[in-house]
Amino acid sequence: MSHVARCDYRRVRKAVFPVAGLGTRFLPATKTVPKEMLPVVDRPLIQYAVDEAIAAGCDTLVFVTNRYKHAVADYFDTAYELEQRLARAGKDDLLELVRNVLPSHVRAVFVTQAEARGLGHAVLCAKPVIGDEPFAVLLPDDLIFSRSAGALAQMITLASEASAGVIAVQDVPREQTASYGIVDAPSFSGAHGRIQSIVEKPKPELAPSTLAVVGRYVLPPEIFAQLEKTTPGSGGEIQLTDGIAALLPHQPMLAYRFDGRRFDCGSRIGLVEATIQFALEHDDLAEEARRYMRAALEQADAEQSV
Ligand code: UTP
Repeated sequence: MSHVARCDYRRVRKAVFPVAGLGTRFLPATKTVPKEMLPVVDRPLIQYAVDEAIAAGCDTLVFVTNRYKHAVADYFDTAYELEQRLARAGKDDLLELVRNVLPSHVRAVFVTQAEARGLGHAVLCAKPVIGDEPFAVLLPDDLIFSRSAGALAQMITLASEASAGVIAVQDVPREQTASYGIVDAPSFSGAHGRIQSIVEKPKPELAPSTLAVVGRYVLPPEIFAQLEKTTPGSGGEIQLTDGIAALLPHQPMLAYRFDGRRFDCGSRIGLVEATIQFALEHDDLAEEARRYMRAALEQADAEQSV
């Protein structure tokens, strides 16, 4: 391994949210509504990811967007008229909800990815804001439900203890490896292991393992130099996975099986599952949601058996 100064992961303050993808799997909705603004119960996907980052100690949120995604910037902007109306109507609870989309100590920065050239390229667009610090990347369409500390908080704790970058992983069936970045981390002990190699969307027969990358990363700033050199890979896109692969000889990176359940809200079934899970978690919805699901299943089963 060539000598590179170890990065200090104790202060991960900046989080990057790449939200410039096309979201084709949700067309036609995503013609006008960015995928990240699709709601799970009453909050858009982006809010869950933002809350996870803030809970992990991040105070600078960098949104990588494109010119069609005004809705994301609008969502985090002050809604003067709405706030005035709610204040006049004495609806203090709702006013709180609207104002707390971003707490006052947190700042949002927007950078543009002019063309959807891939996740690696989207992360590279954040370089001028990140500078020379370790940082987090959260893909809002991976919604992680956790009863304990959020997934990113767990990862930052591990990164600072181990002085290493951390990538969230989960086990997937071998037939699904071609949908994910896959890591090889043979020395797994407990919940984490050092990554030996990482490859984007390998065919099942070529995959080095069945440990799939989930959309949470804690990365050193050296990733930018690697991404600048990265050429288009799988799908003709500049892949974050390829940048990380180039980083491995220089910086230690850990794969981490986080404590929590991940919903792939970039897919329709994932969004449906997350909606069910979160409805069951809301005190004021759970009972009705249960009742409806039971009745709907009974009816569907009865119709199927006719
Ligand atoms: P996806 O692979 O889910 O692509 O991107 P997508 O375009 O958003 O969705 P589909 O597959 O067409 O339905 C993973 C993450 O990377 C971001 C996306 O916004 C998403 O958060 N991304 C992807 C970018 O910001 N820029 C890109 O060029 C590509």
